[in-house]
Amino acid sequence: MRFLTGIQPSGALHLGNYFGAMLPAIQLQEQGEAYYFIANYHSMTSVTDPEARRRFTHDVALDFLACGLDPKRCVFWRQSDTPEHTELAWLLSTVTPMGLLKRCHSYKDKLARLADGDEGAVNHGLFAYPVLMAADILMYDANVVPVGRDQKQHLEVTRDIAIKFNETYGPTFVLPEPRIRDEVAVVPGLDGQKMSKSYDNTIELFGEEKSVRKKIMSLVMDSRSPAEPKPDAEKNLAIQLLRLVAPPAVATDFEDRLRMGGLGYGDLKKTLFEHYWNFFAEPRKRRAELAAAPELVEQILQDGARRAREVGHRVMKRARLACGLD
Ligand code: ADP
Ligand code: TRP
Repeated sequence: MRFLTGIQPSGALHLGNYFGAMLPAIQLQEQGEAYYFIANYHSMTSVTDPEARRRFTHDVALDFLACGLDPKRCVFWRQSDTPEHTELAWLLSTVTPMGLLKRCHSYKDKLARLADGDEGAVNHGLFAYPVLMAADILMYDANVVPVGRDQKQHLEVTRDIAIKFNETYGPTFVLPEPRIRDEVAVVPGLDGQKMSKSYDNTIELFGEEKSVRKKIMSLVMDSRSPAEPKPDAEKNLAIQLLRLVAPPAVATDFEDRLRMGGLGYGDLKKTLFEHYWNFFAEPRKRRAELAAAPELVEQILQDGARRAREVGHRVMKRARLACGLD
């Protein structure tokens, strides 16, 4: 069983990314062959600052390795070190109906956000992005692709493209199955909406102590007095986040105290900050060590790319032969 997934380097990773995507990926390492790459080609549809892309890419590598991704148990690399993804994207694009891409939310949503629906303001990369994603997946004969719900449509497109190619040129690609992490709850952000860098409401995994403390202390609460009992304590934002980073007994104890009345929001937030800080203490230490050894991180990514190429080149050969390029 081969798992494959990509993560875009488009900003600092946050608690939502950790519980929604990173932790499940780290756990999957034990269950099969895991192929994980940093999708820096994909980030080009949104980030246009080269230095930012380099930094985000390096940061994603540090964050994942610090949190427990083990290069001995998985293949972990940077997408642009296997540039054949773009070649395969071209082969696939020639069997991809325009209509299929026009229906994709990634493109439609962006177009809809532009007041005049001006197609000229949407780049071709964003339009063609699902084809590159199909190439990422098909190039490694991946069986299972763990993704968030927002990526479900892209997996359907990938399967449609693979079927079309196989029909046109003969059996070439393995059809992948999505594994949608429905059981993972959506992590709320500082304002109670889904935590997302687009909403500017994130708690970073490895933020500065002072700035994260300030963010946590600014969590949006209601105006009830500390003494007042809170029968809806389980819905409280700080309690929801505490459930993620504190031992269950601690979270339950604080929830009970909030329910009974007598616990102030300030004290609750302080507790949340302490548990958040402790929860990532070990990873933070490992991250600092890795940050001090950039050549080691580079070595890990290069080694991952070499192992990815072993599979990728085999599949590319198959694809090139199938369509008469070789
Ligand atoms: P953002 O919304 O900050 O731009 P991404 O879309 O890059 O984050 O997220 C990458 C993956 O992380 C998503 O596919 C999803 O699985 C997971 N993820 C992001 N935010 C959350 C959240 N608030 N709760 C749970 N999972 C999340
Ligand atoms: N599009 C995915 C996202 O934004 C990232 C991604 C790129 C990916 N290529 C992939 C995920 C291949 C799974 C498989 O989250």
